[in-house]
Formats: sequence, structure tokens, C-alpha cells
Amino acid sequence: MSSADASPSQIVPGGPRHVAIIMDGNGRWATQRGRPRLFGHHAGAKRVREVVEACPDFGVEYLTIFAFSTENWKRTQVEVAGLMSLFRRYISKETRGLSEFGARVRFIGDRVRLDKKLVKLMNELEEATAHNTRVHLTIALNYGGRDEVARATQRLAQDVAAGLLNPDDVDEETLPKYLDTYVLPDPDLVIRTSGEARISNFLLWQSAYAEYEFIDTLWPDFSKEEFGSLCAAYGGRDRRFGAVKT
Ligand code: IPE
Ligand code: IPE
Ligand code: MG
Repeated sequence: MSSADASPSQIVPGGPRHVAIIMDGNGRWATQRGRPRLFGHHAGAKRVREVVEACPDFGVEYLTIFAFSTENWKRTQVEVAGLMSLFRRYISKETRGLSEFGARVRFIGDRVRLDKKLVKLMNELEEATAHNTRVHLTIALNYGGRDEVARATQRLAQDVAAGLLNPDDVDEETLPKYLDTYVLPDPDLVIRTSGEARISNFLLWQSAYAEYEFIDTLWPDFSKEEFGSLCAAYGGRDRRFGAVKT
């Protein structure tokens, strides 16, 4: 990215480098309009591009979005199938735009349970954008924080069994190397839309010291302006990480 691409006037001093968003409220947004839940998911998907494109304006280098949780399989077959087809269409449709914008796209979550065609599209999008650096967009799809830690622990245990890792050397620095997010910094700010004040199994390990914003806006109504004001509010927070400032 060239510095001319962003408008430096909007960059928030001390703003968040990594923002993670729990994009919630699509179903309620549709219900309020007397439409099926999938209508809300389509409207929600359309918001993503604007938020991605706003990142450089606010100095955000990493954006991680929660698209589908390991618990979302409990929904009706119609909704799950509709979401999976939306993800396939979304990736096909957005690959070019995201590439041209300079977004590097990664997926986190367990791909094993996902449809092979979808996984192929995910891999292709990752490859097509692998050289980009303007914004790191990570999409959490079939992601659960507990599932991620369990999968990480399984791989760690395999390395111990294979003699590659000494159990005495396992510390706070070791486990994150096995997480899906191993290349990403921890999120500074986690935003959840739709008024729910819970994290629903999102980035459990990584958000240990994140700042949280729970806002009432339903995800399909979330705007660049609101994103900007949340980034600005973050700039005013005093993050102490357990220490006392002298
Ligand atoms: C978030 O919106 C999107 C997904 C979980 C896939 P919801 O579908 O949870 O919307 P609400 O919470 O029912 O309004
Ligand atoms: C969290 O939202 C998951 C995503 C946004 C993808 P949910 O709507 O699934 O969370 P709960 O069920 O309200 O906790
Ligand atoms: Mg919800």
C-alpha cells in the first residue's frame, strides 16, 4: 500500500491495529422487515466490503470477522444451507474486488466439516490474495474458540509424542503457535453488533486483553461512520495489561 492510498487525516492516533467483529443481528434485521432470515444474511454480507475498505482510513491493519460459528450448525437446515451457498457466492463474487483493493484474505476455523467446493473457493481466495498487504482480512468460518484450542492442543500433543516438543517447554508462547491465528497479532478491539453482550466462543485465547464494544446496531445497518467512531473511542482507552501506571 502506498501512504497516498489512505487519507491520513482520519487515522486515529493510538487507534486499534487489529479489530475483530462479531457480525450479529442479521436475522432480527430481516424479521423486522417481515422477510426470511436469509434476506438479512445477504444484507449483512454486503456490509463487509465497506468495512474492509474503511480499514486503511482508520489505521486498521487487521480485520477479523465472525461469519459462522461451530455452534451455528444447530440452526435449521434451510438457514445453514442458505448460508453455505451465500459464502460460496460471496467468495466468487468478491475475489476480484478484494484482490484489487489489496486485501489479504485468510480463513480460520475447521474446514473439515465444510463442503469441498466451498473449501476450494476459500483456498483459491487465500492464494489469489497472498501477496497483498493493505488490509489483512480474516474470515472466521466454522470457527469456535474452544474448538480451535482443542485442535491446537491435539497438534501440540502430536508434536510431543513425535519427540519434536518437550512438555517442559510448553508455555504461553507455545500454544498460540498452534492456533489458526498463529500469523496474526491479538485483536485490540472486539466489536459485537445487535445488543448482545457476550462473545459466543469467538477468539477466546486471543482476546484475553482486548477492549470490547457491544453496540445496539444490527449488523446490516453497521456503517463506516460507526466503525470510525468506535476506533476513535478505542484511542482514548487506557490499556494497563495488569500493571499500574506510575
Ligand atoms: C449473525 O446474525 C450471522 C450468523 C450467526 C451467521 P444472526 O443470524 O445471528 O442474527 P440474529 O442474532 O438471529 O438476529
Ligand atoms: C455469533 O452469533 C456467531 C456469528 C456472528 C457468526 P450467534 O448469533 O450465533 O450467537 P448467539 O447464539 O446469540 O450466542
Ligand atoms: Mg445472532
